[in-house]
Amino acid sequence: MKNSNKIKFLFIICLFYGLSIQSQTRETLTLKQGWTFQKGHHPLAVNPDFDDRKWEHVTVPHDWAIYGPFDKEIDKQNVAIEQNGEQVATEKTGRTGALPYIGEAWYRNHFKIPNYDPNKKVLILFEGAMSEPEVYINGKKVGEWKYGYAYFYFDISEYVSSENNTLAVKLNNKGLSSRWYPGAGLYRNVKIIVKNKTSINQWGTFITTPIANKTLGKVNIKTKVSGENLRIVTDIIGPNGITMDSNVSETIFNDEFDQNFLVKNPKLWSPETPHLYTAVTRLFSSNVLQDVITTKFGIRSIQYDQKTGFSLNGEVTKFKGVCLHHDLGPIGTAVNRSALKRQLQILKDMGANAIRSSHNMPSFEQLELCDEMGFLFLAESFDEWKKPKVDNGYHLYFDEYAEKDVVNLVRATRNHPSIVMWSSGNEVPDQWGTEGVKRAKWLQDIFHREDPTRPVTVGMDQVKAVMESGFGALLDVPGLNYRVHLYEEAYEKFPQGFILGSETASTVSSRGIYKFPVEIASMKQYDDFQSSSYDLEYCSWSNLPDEDFILQDDKPWVIGEFVWTGFDYLGEPTPYDEVWPSRSSYFGINDLAGLPKDRYYLYRSRWNTQDETLHILPHWNWEGREGETTPVFVYTSFDQAELFLNGKSLGIQKKNDKTPQNRYRLMWMDVKYEPGTLKVVALDQNGKAVAEKEITTAGEPHQIVLEPDSKTIKANGEDLAFVTVSVVDKNGNPCPTAANQLEFEVTGNGSYRAACNGDATSLELFHEPTMKLFSGKLVVLMKSTNTAGSMELTVKGKKLKSASIIIKTEK
Ligand code: GAL
Repeated sequence: MKNSNKIKFLFIICLFYGLSIQSQTRETLTLKQGWTFQKGHHPLAVNPDFDDRKWEHVTVPHDWAIYGPFDKEIDKQNVAIEQNGEQVATEKTGRTGALPYIGEAWYRNHFKIPNYDPNKKVLILFEGAMSEPEVYINGKKVGEWKYGYAYFYFDISEYVSSENNTLAVKLNNKGLSSRWYPGAGLYRNVKIIVKNKTSINQWGTFITTPIANKTLGKVNIKTKVSGENLRIVTDIIGPNGITMDSNVSETIFNDEFDQNFLVKNPKLWSPETPHLYTAVTRLFSSNVLQDVITTKFGIRSIQYDQKTGFSLNGEVTKFKGVCLHHDLGPIGTAVNRSALKRQLQILKDMGANAIRSSHNMPSFEQLELCDEMGFLFLAESFDEWKKPKVDNGYHLYFDEYAEKDVVNLVRATRNHPSIVMWSSGNEVPDQWGTEGVKRAKWLQDIFHREDPTRPVTVGMDQVKAVMESGFGALLDVPGLNYRVHLYEEAYEKFPQGFILGSETASTVSSRGIYKFPVEIASMKQYDDFQSSSYDLEYCSWSNLPDEDFILQDDKPWVIGEFVWTGFDYLGEPTPYDEVWPSRSSYFGINDLAGLPKDRYYLYRSRWNTQDETLHILPHWNWEGREGETTPVFVYTSFDQAELFLNGKSLGIQKKNDKTPQNRYRLMWMDVKYEPGTLKVVALDQNGKAVAEKEITTAGEPHQIVLEPDSKTIKANGEDLAFVTVSVVDKNGNPCPTAANQLEFEVTGNGSYRAACNGDATSLELFHEPTMKLFSGKLVVLMKSTNTAGSMELTVKGKKLKSASIIIKTEK
């Protein structure tokens, strides 16, 4: 056997050995199946004999509220949103999505503990439960938590007395508890962990890489354990499957082992090279194997420096980031790996390198994907501390839970190389007053105690106040939300030497909708409750993307930005907070269906430095506007381009410094509309044509077109295929204004899951198999079953040639 093959062979044996040992020493059951669910008050449901046969049968992750119906009255809030500068209370509808998330609900599950043994330790882990969960096992209350975004676990060893057990979970969502759609239910995984009493503690592994450069990686692993006469053995396995170093230790520091490893010439983790290493740790007591834990990690260094800002592996790196709320559009908040992966693929293509989990703890699935796909991560915790933003917000729990919630956030996620910064809060009203300064320090100290390797930020909007009070100065990273006009002053006053755009832009637009005249406007409203995709409309507290670009480009001390937001989300329909129907945001670079708005190409033109961007807007179907001024914008990575309408040149535009928009967009402001073909030809520095793009006025919708995001998905009952549905005219031209009502049917080894058209004013339900196109498009989600094979989607519409597509599903 060749040497390398020998190593591979050994590794495979080790892996098998590791896995089988793992199942002997530790078992993790993810409770996905076998759940029953009922809304309302059901205190008798804690009883193991309670008859729940009439309850709804669901799988977890589950969001009970996403099935609607939308209703204006739900969580209607008569408030002045102070952080938006409002002084008088007005009626806000749709602020939390107008979906029925309020109230009590119960989940039950009868689960079996395999090879039940009373000497084992049994934990129940909730990766998020919305909200105020109370947990009962076999009729007895085990414990409770409050914050719907927190991860928490309980030791239930004393509550399980045989193989068969009954779990009951009560949840309760209060109205006026959120500023966006929070979702409802067991929306993240619930796990049962069975292990020996002598074992590695839950979230007891902490891996850091104190030295990480091209030639040397020092890996430090701290492992908290329980038991006597212990010995720990850890192997470090490289991305190629080869063991790089091993360490055996019997030296324990109180309840913690501390091991150090040398990895020569490590493959460093970065967004461009997301190499992952694996640590396999075995715990022995008196030479008997007790526990095995496998942890993925990356070897990378991070540095925040007064002169150079943020560096990753010694290279100055700017955050090209987006903020994301946790809902996944049409499937709500129920966490789904394939939906998260699709979001990240779209953002990767845009050239983004960072995500901020606004304004709460991210899902484990999202962090794993960011590790694997290469995204820097700003993990946030709270939108409120002690001072309220909403009547029933986190301030109710802050004193009792804030420390526990931060501790769990850090311990559960600190081994993810993607996380490069923590955030202890977003625009907390505690920015005012000395108590708030104390809270900022208290929270930051907790983060530092739990993780001395990463800095802490707060997204601050009260910039004048935090400059005065010392709040901003004490943070590791001063994060400014908007307030572009205060960046210079904050940089001068704050001692850190750099500023982060922790939240930027909040530009609003509706995909495929354009308004005339084309002009810059704040809080602009139209009769159809849409915002213009010329990307010139913003909120009273926010700004246009170009103003952020200037700061990012001209000020080396600005270390990057997190745009509000990468995708539209349910709730917060600014600038239409006060009108109905309007139930989801307009802020997204992509719409609620994940379809790119024009702004996607504006960000792509500067963030994606690998691929060319050449994008024309608006669409060219303006019947009735013949002869009227219809400006044309081009978002492009090229500096100059020539525009042609029906073969006639409309001149060359070149990026210039006249206005912020002129610097980043090519704009032909006085084009007179005539139907036909609009063509843009990009030119290099010498005026030579290097790329071109054209769009053509479409005729009547004639045929449906289906484009799946993948041709094969996993047959695991969870994986989703996303199919973009559009219509074209007889000549194959996309119809950008089509609004046809379509019907969907899925047959075979899959089911119809949901559809979404990105229209923030639509009250059509996502899970019904029919929906209208919005600006000529929508997305259909199909879900696999557990049986491998194929599934077929058929889409029909009146007077349209229908279309079908087959997606394979495999194990
Ligand atoms: C920010 C806030 C976000 C969102 C955004 C809308 O002030 O942090 O959660 O409300 O405004 O522009």
